[in-house]
Amino acid sequence: MTEQYKNAVQALLWTGTSLRVLDQRQLPEKLVYDEYHDAEGVSEAITTMRVRGAPAIGIAAAYGVALSVIQHCAENSADWQQKVAKDIVMLAKSRPTAVNLFWALEQMKSLLDKSITNNPQAVFIACAEQIHADDITANIKMGELGANLLVGVKGVMTHCNTGALATGGYGTALGVIRSAADRQSLKVYAGETRPWLQGARLTVWELAQDGIPVTLLVDSAAAWLMKSGAIDWVIVGADRIAANGDAANKIGTYSLAMMAKQHNVKFMVVAPTSTIDWTISDGNQIEIEQRDKNELLPNCFNTEGSLVGAWNPVFDVTPAELISAIVTERGVVLNPNEQGMRGIR
Ligand code: MRU
Repeated sequence: MTEQYKNAVQALLWTGTSLRVLDQRQLPEKLVYDEYHDAEGVSEAITTMRVRGAPAIGIAAAYGVALSVIQHCAENSADWQQKVAKDIVMLAKSRPTAVNLFWALEQMKSLLDKSITNNPQAVFIACAEQIHADDITANIKMGELGANLLVGVKGVMTHCNTGALATGGYGTALGVIRSAADRQSLKVYAGETRPWLQGARLTVWELAQDGIPVTLLVDSAAAWLMKSGAIDWVIVGADRIAANGDAANKIGTYSLAMMAKQHNVKFMVVAPTSTIDWTISDGNQIEIEQRDKNELLPNCFNTEGSLVGAWNPVFDVTPAELISAIVTERGVVLNPNEQGMRGIR
């Protein structure tokens, strides 16, 4: 990690007794942290997308469980473990697609199953902090591995936000772009990522903070950009990867992968192994989150009896055969399929 990066923005700040969450809905205009003291607040922060991005959601949920333990132990309730278990169920309902959420909750639940009686607060906090620290370590490793694939490359495009804001720090796809930009000159393009504008509001802001020049384009300009020959790779993150390498990510990723194939542009998915769901054989089994039509509809159509509806799936699944490389902290899977994925299990 470069010296310069050490001062990068943090989506989540653990204070020891509370979780401070950067409200990403207000970026880049305002940098506002909200403070949470219980699992309910953290769950709401995830659902309302104050915190978003698969790894960051998982880390926030882990801290949410630590807060639940602190809260219920302080109440001296004999049944604190049942109360924490209920909070884990609540946190699991906060968003459906990113498997990092369920992975992190599973780590915390396995602690609960151990019925720890000696200072459980410290044990749960340490586990959440470890999940956070491990994510940063994984990102830095993936940054190196991904950048190795970009030697000599002049232009890349990314989608959504996969940086420090979406993770414990440094980022997945954006971590690769950071590492590559450290080593060589690289032209970076970011799609705006409708409707929530993770690209236009978050990615370009993060890169600019790091002093990395970036060019923003509307999502629908991507094919034309590829046709121009300006990019060699599309680099994205993932919310859930199936055992055969099919990868769910922000809506629009699948169409980018199809366009990339048409234009001989390579396609890289960067995600820690906590994003891999080994229990599902392919991407058809991934639940795709549908968000409220209000996120799309102009207010005038968002009325009782309106004839204008909206379809708002916020993820899609890119089949493994459209992916050139999946980069994880355990290694790179080229042209992924079930057999290749087994190599990093
Ligand atoms: O709806 P979001 O903003 O949570 O979606 C985020 C993405 O799709 C990211 O690409 C993905 O979580 C990987 S983040 C490192």
